[in-house]
Amino acid sequence: MVCPCDWPEPIVRVQSLSESGTPIIPERYIKPPLDRPSLNTSPQDINIPLIDMSGLTNDNLTVHEATLKQISDACRDWGFFQVVNHGLRAELVDGVREIWREFFHESMDVKQKYANSPKTYEGYGSRLGVQKGAILDWSDYYFLHYLPSSLKDHNKWPEKPSSLRELVEEYSKDIVRLGNVLLEAFSINLGLKHDYLQNAFGGEDVGACLRVNFYPKCPQPDLTLGLSSHSDPGGITFLLPDENVSGLQVRRDQKWITVKPVRHGIIVNVGDQIQVLSNGIYKSVEHRVIVNPNNERVSLAYFYNPKSDLLIHPSPELITPERPPMYPSMTFDEYRLFIRTKGPQGKSQVESLKSPR
Ligand code: OGA
Ligand code: NI
Repeated sequence: MVCPCDWPEPIVRVQSLSESGTPIIPERYIKPPLDRPSLNTSPQDINIPLIDMSGLTNDNLTVHEATLKQISDACRDWGFFQVVNHGLRAELVDGVREIWREFFHESMDVKQKYANSPKTYEGYGSRLGVQKGAILDWSDYYFLHYLPSSLKDHNKWPEKPSSLRELVEEYSKDIVRLGNVLLEAFSINLGLKHDYLQNAFGGEDVGACLRVNFYPKCPQPDLTLGLSSHSDPGGITFLLPDENVSGLQVRRDQKWITVKPVRHGIIVNVGDQIQVLSNGIYKSVEHRVIVNPNNERVSLAYFYNPKSDLLIHPSPELITPERPPMYPSMTFDEYRLFIRTKGPQGKSQVESLKSPR
């Protein structure tokens, strides 16, 4: 695949469409009937597991092990969980979400200075994928790199509001720390050496990038999606949701479960690279976002990824005669070209890699 260098069509900011007050959404945002939000939704009382991360540093071994077990079960059964007592200050998580909300309410001139291209995706964007005529999602976003440091460039982060860069720095540092802690927990839970996954991700040289999603109010929420069904291509995703407006749905047994965020919690999910490294023991789970007519929604998806030029393959220790390697070796750079070209497409990428039996 060659590098997709520019958008196939002029970019329309969904926020501008929403603010125009039109009661009808353009055809480009109307999903085929089977993809629309109303079908196959689960009862409201189901939620993804909630895990108290302070259990991992508890001196009481029973508590420590029970927490590891909760993480293990959540990775195997759900691919998604919510964490509290994760070590990030409450003011920081609220502050960073609200400063990004302010950014999206800056004037269009301020935002357009950072308009992105599919070459790197960095900056202010309104679509994922470069296929001409594709049906689009009801959202805008901002994408930036934190690690590796060689890719971090504060000039590509918004200059306004004035404390944004500082807050994003602090938030990023904490998320990377949380990523390191969870990689160790995953390694232990999979029966690997405690630093196996960290090393497989490149040790100190992991990647970390942030996608801030802005879902404007939508006059016809039953016809579209804020973000189409996909699994995350990377390692682990840390999602800071909007506490007041739900929207994230996780696929489970052919049904969609709407996640109910807990206060100051962070939603964690397994990405495709962990599915590959664990040889399919952990699965990256499909998810999508629905929108609504009365409220905008802001979320921060932090992607904690392997160093992009390392070969990622199933851990030899998780390969047995009964469980041969399910996926070929590939670098994350090669892997993510798919979503960057085709846009969100459920789990079709990782599924297509499966070795024929
Ligand atoms: C993502 C994502 C969910 C959300 O950005 O990959 O799944 O709730 N976001 O915004
Ligand atoms: Ni996602």
